[in-house]
Amino acid sequence: MNDSPIVLRSIADTRNWSSEIRRSGTLGFVPTMGALHEGHAELMRVAARECGVVAVSIYVNPTQFGPKEDLGKYPRTFESDLELCRSVGVKAIFFPSDEIMYPHGREDFTAVEVPSLTTLFEGASRPGHFVGVATVVTKLFGIVQPDFSYFGRKDYQQWLVIKRMTEDLNLGVNLRRVDTVRESDGLAMSSRNRYLSADERASALGLSRSLKALENALATGETRVKPLEKCIMDVLGSDPGVQLDYARIVNADNLRELEVVETHIPESAVALIAARVGTTRLIDNLMLPPISGRTEIRA
Ligand code: PAJ
Repeated sequence: MNDSPIVLRSIADTRNWSSEIRRSGTLGFVPTMGALHEGHAELMRVAARECGVVAVSIYVNPTQFGPKEDLGKYPRTFESDLELCRSVGVKAIFFPSDEIMYPHGREDFTAVEVPSLTTLFEGASRPGHFVGVATVVTKLFGIVQPDFSYFGRKDYQQWLVIKRMTEDLNLGVNLRRVDTVRESDGLAMSSRNRYLSADERASALGLSRSLKALENALATGETRVKPLEKCIMDVLGSDPGVQLDYARIVNADNLRELEVVETHIPESAVALIAARVGTTRLIDNLMLPPISGRTEIRA
């Protein structure tokens, strides 16, 4: 039976705890917005395997939500989050208030702006989103001061943005990417899945199904991006319950356009999908071609 994690609410307490830990070991850090599920748990498990001690942050960061987005109704489930963290052996949870994170207010803060990558896809659909993400993760790194930090491939563009920012600002944190954890039918786990009604849940499955169709098309020899993108559209376009925002196959390093998927370079491309199901916005992605012998979506 693991002990319950210590809950740290101030920056000073968190820095003191972290420096004590790092005096004799390696600290792994998993930033989250709570409403934790198996995807988050997997990040914590990988962190625990690689580092002696794991810390998690739970903070619904207001600056990464647009004015019409779900900040107010974003699920807050601290008690069950604490239990999930305890069950995987997390030692500390940084759980700050808005006043601690943004002492001069949500409009008046020093922002971190990552170029080029942030104007595309999620950046185009959600203006300001990545400034909020890059800023809060920089602040969290400064507060927690981890050796390693763990992010999910589920949010692929976010991963690229955080990697670029960490390099450009020399933040000195080693970053690790963890594969997407899915439900048994293929749906990528997300805190937002709990908003879905039964009908919407069925429509949401179209995202992973369309990626499965894409995986199959690539396996049978199609490498041209346009017909591969059409495979995704054919699945998603046939369901009136899904409003597609984008479905594109692009260079996995810089998200630039591609004509063909280079089948001899594993994970050189990425298929990115965003769609609205009811009022819930969902994203999913697939790395192409897969590392030899791997299939991502079984169902
Ligand atoms: P959140 O959506 O809570 O996600 C926290 C971390 O869990 C992210 O790195 C995300 O990619 C990862 N994750 C979510 N679902 C996953 C899944 N199904 N499989 C694997 N990993 C998954 O992303 C954020 O919070 C915020 O933007 C944050 C980075 C904390 C900054 O506020």
